[in-house]
Amino acid sequence: MNILKFDQESTWVEGIVTFWRDRLLHNPALKMCLPTGLTPNQAYAEMARCCKKGQLSFSKTSIYLLDEYGGLSATDPGKSFNMLKERLINHIDLPKDKFHFLNTEATKLDEECKGYETAIGGRFDLVLLGIGLNGHLGLNEPGSEIESGVRKVRLAPSSRESCQRYLKHNQLPEWGLTIGLKQLLAAKEVWLLANGGKKAEIIERTVRGEISNQLPASLLRNHPKCFLFVDGEAGSRL
Ligand code: F6R
Repeated sequence: MNILKFDQESTWVEGIVTFWRDRLLHNPALKMCLPTGLTPNQAYAEMARCCKKGQLSFSKTSIYLLDEYGGLSATDPGKSFNMLKERLINHIDLPKDKFHFLNTEATKLDEECKGYETAIGGRFDLVLLGIGLNGHLGLNEPGSEIESGVRKVRLAPSSRESCQRYLKHNQLPEWGLTIGLKQLLAAKEVWLLANGGKKAEIIERTVRGEISNQLPASLLRNHPKCFLFVDGEAGSRL
């Protein structure tokens, strides 16, 4: 795991965007898996700004949404689909059919998950991830199998509570659909993003603790090309 620690949040965002622009330049057809949550928002806003200015393009790329919460209405702003659309997709030149996502309303969720795996096909070129306070990646909670694929999962209590930050009501989701550790760990390149003091402890355990699926993010230490981007606060215990 390569650790990139930035003094300030603004330089942390700049660092992520600089790397991302470089990857797009070298591979305009980048196949990406992207998260929602609060962590990537500033980087998304900056990438959208650069795209509007014609400094980069997503026109040949494809984007797969990492996960989706179940039990929320389709228009709920807390749905991952709505979050990513509002923060990135609506502001970039990605062709409509190149934005892929999981439908939690599907009548046969097993088939929906299998279909998503088929749509993903081979390895991702680039996966961006945030980290949960319990070390989850996507909705792969502690204890998830390393070989787990796209599937329906039950959210851990702390992950449910974290969802409150995305919602304007208190009906917290109990389950979701997620890309599995198998697809995430198979990616050609993975970036784990963390900012803010609340993430300092889990980042320390991710980097210095045991490598175990009890802390899914620690598994990234065995990945051949993983970058951890932390700001000063999230990286304060490293
Ligand atoms: C969201 C996701 C989650 C978040 C994680 C951190 O698509 O996959 O694993 O990345 O819970 O959330 P934030 O960024 O809100 O702290």
